[in-house]
Amino acid sequence: MKLIGPFKQVVTLANLPLRGVLSDEQLEIIIDGGILVIDNKIEKVGNFETLKSEHQNVEIETIEGEQIVLPAFVDSHTHICFGGNRANDFAMRNAGKTYLEIAESGGGIWSSVQHTRNASEEELLKTLLERINILIDLGITTIEVKSGYGLDVENELKMLRIIKEAQSQTQATLVPTCLSAHLKPRDFEGDNKAYLDYILNEILPKVKEENLSNRVDIFIEKSAFQPEESKEFLLKTKDLGFEITVHADQFTPGSSRIAVEVGAQSADHLEATVDDDIEFLAQSNTVATALPGASLGLGEKFTPARKLLDAGAILAIASDWNPGSAPMGNLITQASILATYEKLTTAEVLAGMTFRSAFALGLEDRGRLENGLKADFVSFKTDNFQNVLYNQGSLKAENVFINGVKVKK
Ligand code: NIG
Ligand code: FE
Repeated sequence: MKLIGPFKQVVTLANLPLRGVLSDEQLEIIIDGGILVIDNKIEKVGNFETLKSEHQNVEIETIEGEQIVLPAFVDSHTHICFGGNRANDFAMRNAGKTYLEIAESGGGIWSSVQHTRNASEEELLKTLLERINILIDLGITTIEVKSGYGLDVENELKMLRIIKEAQSQTQATLVPTCLSAHLKPRDFEGDNKAYLDYILNEILPKVKEENLSNRVDIFIEKSAFQPEESKEFLLKTKDLGFEITVHADQFTPGSSRIAVEVGAQSADHLEATVDDDIEFLAQSNTVATALPGASLGLGEKFTPARKLLDAGAILAIASDWNPGSAPMGNLITQASILATYEKLTTAEVLAGMTFRSAFALGLEDRGRLENGLKADFVSFKTDNFQNVLYNQGSLKAENVFINGVKVKK
């Protein structure tokens, strides 16, 4: 047992509903608080001095100076296992070149596939761990990581095995997702349907066998996979026992409906979602995940987060960190910016990066500072929690705790 504190403010996010609008008045803020931890879990959160007097011989980990503490963040959508770099795509896009021109000059998703296929396992593992450490430094301790730059049996398995190996070398929780249906690779002989069958018959059974992932993702978009073939594919992956998440409505609407219809854990992107589909999502348990990093990377509009919350959806916010559309990788900055454009309350943003994004990954054991939950939290050297979003990412996390233990820097 260990008592950690005192913190100027403990923002617990306790008792907030899973879906819909939140006001900042609903936030529970414990002044001069402490967190009692037993065996990786939160035992109790309360006034530091009271907890101290209630537990006479408890070990105390003293927090120096004024710090506030929040539940650690959960980034529920990333593509951080990749080789190469797409800075030239970014420069070309900003110079006015079209998607097609960029692809023709050797850019786009296909170029990341080639770089990832050509990268050695050591190199991929090293850069993946470096990116994980960057996220941990931001206070993110649960990270979803997709495959999707391998796009054949050998290379998709290579990616997922590397993600599994990274899990054995980090204290953060990694949630691996199989995104073999990112794009039909140029070297695949056959149509989309044949490629989706190849995933079902050749890739997913091995993913299961080696216990590499229990989640499947697909990019439903004009330039990738079409709605009907995608729905059929997803229902089959469900029969194989996979959970589902979907890249939906990024440029054209319609696919978030499919995500809901197949019972996906989340529908992510949603920049182009129309009002009727917002209502449809809001009636479901499919988490609507905004990816402001992709809007910022591409110069496209933001996900209608305000409308989604007003309709009663479960809104998560994730980074989408990838070499193409979202190269920044700073969820705190991105969520703060989304808040200014979409008019989100602090409570809505914090919920979207913690227990709501955890729910999108099927994890209900984290994301709030509450008895019995995983003791992952992040502190900032400031006297007011509002400064975290106000500073738009420039206020750095001071201490990150995983299972109640401070992560060494
Ligand atoms: O989530 N939209 C599709 N996939 C990624 C982009 C991946 C890439 O460009 O490499 C996304 O934005
Ligand atoms: Fe993505």
